[in-house]
Amino acid sequence: MLKIAVLVSGGGTNLQAIIDAVETGTISNTKIEVVISNNKNAHALERARQKGIEALCISPKDYESRAEFNKEFLEKLNTYEVDLVVLAGFLVVIPEEMIAKYRNRIINIHPSLIPSFCGTGYYGLKVHEAALARGVKLTGATVHFVDEGTDTGPIILQKAVAVEPEDTPEILQRRVMEQAEWKILPEAINLIANGKVSVENGHVKIGG
Ligand code: GRF
Repeated sequence: MLKIAVLVSGGGTNLQAIIDAVETGTISNTKIEVVISNNKNAHALERARQKGIEALCISPKDYESRAEFNKEFLEKLNTYEVDLVVLAGFLVVIPEEMIAKYRNRIINIHPSLIPSFCGTGYYGLKVHEAALARGVKLTGATVHFVDEGTDTGPIILQKAVAVEPEDTPEILQRRVMEQAEWKILPEAINLIANGKVSVENGHVKIGG
């Protein structure tokens, strides 16, 4: 049984996709141990509580320094002894000591086809604004392992989504969520839960 922690900051639609996929069996062999947010008002926390999943807020604002937050955050996470940490719209920088401890056991969903429109400053609507400004005809989403960089870890899954002529950033964001994010994040978790994902020389192999 793969034990997972899901880290969130906002509405939690990706968390909901994971919860629903576990319930329907699209994700097998997996248990959501805890949902953690840096934002006490994140609707994602309410989504977890509605399903009886432990949900808590640990915010950098409640600590004297970022270093103190990082220490407390990692110590709290470690108490759950999870196998996989899923970043589902988590807007806090992951501490380097956490990346080291959970090497290739932290995954993130990014709303573009990495290496396009990613890295520092590319999050939320900003990603879709950049895609529309560039005039790309295809965008999409990427699930990747988290390393010390920003959106630079080994890519696990990607799914392309068409950009339509009348798209606004909001319309495009919603389509990327519906057609890509909510599908490939659960799929990636299911693959990991069933031993189908490995990392060799910085590249992900799926299958076997
Ligand atoms: C999604 O657009 C995701 O791609 C990005 O943050 C957003 C989270 O949305 N990482 P939600 O909280 O899952 O609804």
